[in-house]
Amino acid sequence: MLYFIGLGLHDAKDISVKGLETLKKCDTVYAEFYTNYFGDLKELEKLAGKEIILLERKDLEERPDENVLKGQGPGDVALLVSGDPMVATTHIDLALRANKKGIKWRVIHASSVYSAVGETGLQIYKFGKTASLVYPSKNYFPTSPYDILAENQKTGLHTLFLLDIKAEEKRFMTVNEAISLLLEIEKQKKTRLFTPETLCIGIARLGGDVKIKKGPAADLLKEDFGKPPHCLVVPGKLHYIEEEALALFG
Ligand SMILES: C[S@@+](CC[C@H](N)C(=O)[O-])C[C@H]1O[C@@H](n2cnc3c(N)ncnc32)[C@H](O)[C@@H]1O
Repeated sequence: MLYFIGLGLHDAKDISVKGLETLKKCDTVYAEFYTNYFGDLKELEKLAGKEIILLERKDLEERPDENVLKGQGPGDVALLVSGDPMVATTHIDLALRANKKGIKWRVIHASSVYSAVGETGLQIYKFGKTASLVYPSKNYFPTSPYDILAENQKTGLHTLFLLDIKAEEKRFMTVNEAISLLLEIEKQKKTRLFTPETLCIGIARLGGDVKIKKGPAADLLKEDFGKPPHCLVVPGKLHYIEEEALALFG
């Protein structure tokens, strides 16, 4: 059996009791932290009482048959994932590949940025399509997150921006970098969709020493949100209860 085990949002103690019990009985335990930030692997090894093998992006994307999908022997295998395992397309792809190889799999869910973002007071069912902001490189500067924002704004929906992670370089996009990127795209598109006045909510470390701050983009650009992970929300049309909740973070 291959178990996808969610570690939850912050540290080694966010795993569920079921997740920890399953992890303890697995023969081989892998973890990946390139789809999301995770703090302390050593602490988790202590809790689990076993060694955890850390996989890099290329291990899982290019050669999963050499690790999680090896599928030999009677022992159970676990893949530990920060947040919820099914909030990342990579793991759904792995589950499909496991099916093709006749490997049975199960998911042990955990808390996720997708539900925790409700701590801002914004109603989860009023979020539109999620946008992912990536670090631009020489010939790559995707502007699709701006288009997603435009679509969501048209229908009054909130937009959650997930921010790029370059785990191997220990580089995690900040709220400030995300706002700068959106302002940069605005300079190209010139539709006044995202300006220094646009109301934003900067969010850091949900589930840990959380920081949530609401304000115009220009103000949040100067705010220090501290350690990763960060995400950003641009609200759509606000219900009065959402406004009351957001006032807490003003
Ligand atoms: C690709 S998503 C993976 C989500 C994860 N599997 C989950 O269920 O939460 C990773 C991005 O979500 C956001 N994120 C994840 N955990 C967060 C947290 N605790 N606080 C703020 N943002 C978070 C960050 O923008 C991060 O780069």
